[in-house]
This record gives sequence, structure tokens and C-alpha cells, in this order.
Amino acid sequence: MKIDNSVVMITGAASGLGRATAERLVALGARVLLVDLDATQGSALAASLGSAAHFVQADVTSDEQLDRAADAGVSQFGKLTGLVTCAGLLYAHKLIGREGRTHDAAAFERVLRVNVTGTFLAMRAASRVILASAARETETSSDGERGVLVLVSSVAATEGQLGQLAYAASKGAVASMVLPAARELASAGVRVVAIAPAAMETPMIAAAPASVQQSLVDQTLFPRRLGKPDEFAQLVEHIFENTLINGCTLRLDGGVRMSAK
Ligand SMILES: NC(=O)c1ccc[n+]([C@@H]2O[C@H](COP(=O)([O-])OP(=O)(O)OC[C@H]3O[C@@H](n4cnc5c(N)ncnc54)[C@H](O)[C@@H]3O)[C@@H](O)[C@H]2O)c1
Repeated sequence: MKIDNSVVMITGAASGLGRATAERLVALGARVLLVDLDATQGSALAASLGSAAHFVQADVTSDEQLDRAADAGVSQFGKLTGLVTCAGLLYAHKLIGREGRTHDAAAFERVLRVNVTGTFLAMRAASRVILASAARETETSSDGERGVLVLVSSVAATEGQLGQLAYAASKGAVASMVLPAARELASAGVRVVAIAPAAMETPMIAAAPASVQQSLVDQTLFPRRLGKPDEFAQLVEHIFENTLINGCTLRLDGGVRMSAK
């Protein structure tokens, strides 16, 4: 998929990995539909990116709001060719925590709702519009490619640490959606790929205690630092451009294998 002239919907675009992705894709000639709950940061990012960006405030747990957002991409830019799902929540609690405090079931369900249902609803909304856009487009790549969906899992999907029950379950579910979606959308020329990052330098990880951040850096083989949001965006760029990558989850991790804590 050529990035130049593509139109990409990015959820969680107001911060961190989504923001870096928007900035890189626009620099490469794409137009981006920025979707986030945070209207202040989302609108500010759209203003800084100019006419190549359009912000829609939406909660990824609302099917109606996501459908409206995807449709806004078409009214604003004429089509949709890609999706990157960066909206997500981090949450940590043990099954039985300090002083016997148990893991709140509502918190567990909230993480699943935002990270999993939110990803599913974004895939559904974007796929509907990508397929409709593709039906109108006369020009496709030599392979007949029409779209790319990039989902965001985590190394916690396979190496969940102490207290990461909800988060690890949610990121495992995201990774598990990749293959069935890629199988389904293959006949329409749409690829589905997930990225599983390790700790990246974003507001999400900045909220974790410094000792937790340092421990994650110490477990990284090389380079011994947090990942940079633009390194995530670089991988999104490569996934868009390399048509052979499909139906898999790619780690972006400096060789880390997270230990129990
Ligand atoms: N930063 C890391 O270390 C790291 C590592 C692995 C995976 N991830 C995943 O990458 C994704 C992006 O993380 P980040 O580090 O950029 O986080 P971030 O907190 O900087 O950004 C997340 C964005 O998602 C938005 N958001 C949250 N809930 C939403 C909802 N219901 N509807 C719409 N928008 C919502 C927030 O407003 C925010 O702008 C997340 O799914 C996260 O789990 C992050």
C-alpha cells in the first residue's frame, strides 16, 4: 500500500503511539482521521498537521461513534484505506492484592471493553468503509491491495507480568483477532497485522512507577532504553508498504522477554 495519498483512521491518535503514527504518515503524504476521547489534544494535533488531518471525538467502546468517525473519513477525504488502533488502557491489579483487596471485576471488564471491543469495533467500522471505498476506486496496487489494518497488541500478550491479568488478556485477544480477520478480508485485498510493542516512551508508560520503567529497561537486551513512539510509527510505515506482511503479530521490543515483575 502506497502511503502517499492513502487515508488512515487512527484511534487513540491524541497521544503517544497514535500521535507519532499520525505525524509520520502525514509527513509521508497520507491524510489521517484522528479519533480519540481527548478533544483538547486531538484538536490541537489536527491543527498542527493542517489540512491532511481531521479530528473526530469518539469513544472506541461506542459502535455508533466509531461508525460516525469512519464515515467522517469519507466525507472529509473521499475514502479510507487504512486503520491503526492505538486507543487503549493500561491497568494493573493482582487477583488478591494488598490487604486482601481483590481484583475488581468491573475494572477487568473495562480493560477488555476498551482494548478488545474497542479494537473490534474500529476494525468493523473501518473495514465497512474501506470495502465501500475500494468498490468505487478504479486504481489499486498491482496486487489488487485495498487496505491495511494495523492492531496494537503488546509483549504482555505472551509475557504478562504480575498484576497484568486484565491487560495481558486484552492484548492476547487483540493478537488472536489478527488471523481470522486477515483470512476474512484477504479476498477483498485487505491485510491485517498487529504490532506487539514492549515499553515505549509515552504518557501511558510515564504513569508507571520509575522503578517499573527501569526494570523493563534492565530486561531489554539492546538498546537498553524505552522504545520511541516514532520507532513504532516506522514499523507501521513498513507494514503499510510491505504487501507480504499479513496475518501475524510483529514484536517491537529490543529483544526483551519480560520476567514476572
Ligand atoms: N506505551 C507502551 O509502553 C505500550 C506498550 C505496548 C502496547 N501499548 C499499547 O499501545 C496503545 C497506545 O498506547 P500509548 O502508550 O500511546 O498510550 P497513551 O495513553 O499515550 O495514548 C492512548 C490514547 O488512547 C485514548 N483512549 C483511551 N481510551 C479511549 C477510548 N475509550 N476511546 C477513544 N480513545 C481512547 C487516550 O485518550 C489516549 O489519547 C495502547 O493500546 C497500549 O496498550 C503501549
